[in-house]
Amino acid sequence: MSIKAAVRTLPDVRADFPGLTTDWHYLDTAATAQKPQAVIDATVKAMGRDYATVHRGVYARSADMTLAYEAARRRIAAFIGAREDDVTFVRGATEAINLVAYSHPRKGRVLLSMLEHHSNIVPWQLAGWQVDVCPLTEDGSIDLVAAEKLLTPEHEMVAFAHVSNVLGSPLDVARAAELAHRVGAELLIDGCQAVPRLPVDVGALDCNYYVFSGHKLYGPTGIGVLWSNKLDALPPWQGGGSMIDRVTFEKTSYAPAPTRFEAGTPAIVEALGLAAAVEYIAQHGIEAIRAHECALVASLREQLARKNSITLFGPENSAGIVSFAMAGVHPHDIGTILDENGVAIRAGHHCAQPLMEHLGVPATARASFGLYSNQDDVTALIEGLARVERIFG
Ligand SMILES: Cc1ncc(COP(=O)(O)O)c(C=O)c1O
Repeated sequence: MSIKAAVRTLPDVRADFPGLTTDWHYLDTAATAQKPQAVIDATVKAMGRDYATVHRGVYARSADMTLAYEAARRRIAAFIGAREDDVTFVRGATEAINLVAYSHPRKGRVLLSMLEHHSNIVPWQLAGWQVDVCPLTEDGSIDLVAAEKLLTPEHEMVAFAHVSNVLGSPLDVARAAELAHRVGAELLIDGCQAVPRLPVDVGALDCNYYVFSGHKLYGPTGIGVLWSNKLDALPPWQGGGSMIDRVTFEKTSYAPAPTRFEAGTPAIVEALGLAAAVEYIAQHGIEAIRAHECALVASLREQLARKNSITLFGPENSAGIVSFAMAGVHPHDIGTILDENGVAIRAGHHCAQPLMEHLGVPATARASFGLYSNQDDVTALIEGLARVERIFG
């Protein structure tokens, strides 16, 4: 059987998502995904009937909640091919990158790329790293040939997006790892846009850190993951309850990772919600989601390419995300008019101002897909754009 034939086809799942009201075409999943009822139910249960703190209580409810919290960690770890002890719960990708940038014992040179989200630029600057920038290829992918030339033994870190939040460009992570490790640098991958749409096996990727946010993975806000096989090499970042072994005024010793990085009462409800999201995705199959989004991207790119007024950004093999501009119309105007048609896209700099400067535009219009998106969404967008053309034509 061919791989293609083995990939399941996604059923219509819109009814699972109460946020997807009739006649509303949500094309902003790259910003945040709508939540399936299974996630809402799991969080309501965790916040209601099952609610208690974790890791401290001596009573049964708290012990049960501790088991559920750690089971959530195991479930999420399995989803990305990780060992549970290598998974730290954080607030999101932004916090994960700050954690690595600040707590890393050697703050030397970091190689970033031109397409990074601000959350993979600013933490490095703030924490005192020297930032170098890898250019992009003509079609908007990270140029790994250029990266090879730029990397020197002075580089401690390479930090790249697995999938660009603006262009959808996927990264060849294995090749990036090879280049980084050849000069002795570590590799951090920002997986925010990859985890919801591509199979991710951190063991096979050969990176050192992999970070993502739960709310883009159909889970709640306020929860995300820092995966690393080097967590034990990182000193604590934030101090507080839970992360310690023994505290005295003279000297404090710390718990092993990942507990060492989870200071204070954690996001218990959110962790359980994220585990429910991962379970929901696994039921449908990430390969099926990838194939589904791939077909939608191909269809949208093809229809946009037929419009003379449209400039398309990003490579043909963009994962789930399509950015474009319309001649003479600001993306905010496109977004506002589309909203009147019940089509929700993102318009702006997408927290990637250096990339906007590189593209020579102040902003782009961006449509992004999820497992609930369908051809009706694409058609509604194309019809909406025809209306924009008529208004500005
Ligand atoms: C590629 C990428 N990295 C990082 C982030 C930051 O994620 P969060 O705001 O959830 O921390 C985003 C959010 O848009 C993103 O798309």
